[in-house]
Amino acid sequence: MQKNQVLLATRNQGKLKELSDMLASCKLSVLGLQNFPELGEVEEDSPTFAGNALKKARYAAEHTGLYAIADDSGLVVDALGGAPGVRSARYAERVENGCLIPGNDAANMARLLKELDGVPMAERTARFCCAMAAVSPDGRELLTEGFWGGSIALAPKGSNGFGYDPVFIDSQSGLHAAELSPEEKNARSHRGKALAALLVQWTEFWRPGS
Ligand code: IMP
Repeated sequence: MQKNQVLLATRNQGKLKELSDMLASCKLSVLGLQNFPELGEVEEDSPTFAGNALKKARYAAEHTGLYAIADDSGLVVDALGGAPGVRSARYAERVENGCLIPGNDAANMARLLKELDGVPMAERTARFCCAMAAVSPDGRELLTEGFWGGSIALAPKGSNGFGYDPVFIDSQSGLHAAELSPEEKNARSHRGKALAALLVQWTEFWRPGS
């Protein structure tokens, strides 16, 4: 195995780009799931971000013999009792005539704004949450978390990022996440914080030949 080779176990292109950018300065050789087309989908059926992140990283490490990193993340909105939460990617999913119609980013945001219709700005507080898991080929595990506080806007703005970024207002700058540059977002995001915490422990976690 090549030294410091890790597999980023995500099919979400937005996440993959963010994580690859953040890992670019580390001495890690990063592989993606496109290098392993034989790997199946992991059902994200845990009620927690941590449970889903661990499930994805365990599956990838077990089936490739590589160190694997996976995250599970989502948006938690106070006025909606924590929804969409672990269902963030599938918030707009619906069944029509017996067929499952998957949601996409635009449909997810539209549902979110509809659910919050009439809720005043002061009550639209929210946070992005990320659990990040690393699993070694010999089954050791690391788990970290990161959070990003803000609120849900009345309308989308900005064209950077992915997912709910156009409707999420960063509490620090007052800007929508989709108005931030990739560097600005990574420096304050839930995923950036969870990955930074993981990398602090990485040197100890990495055991060549394990
Ligand atoms: P999963 O972790 O692949 O289950 O999906 C996470 C979902 O949460 C994404 O598809 C987005 O809808 C949302 N999400 C997670 N992180 C972000 C982010 O940084 N910006 C915007 N949306 C996000």
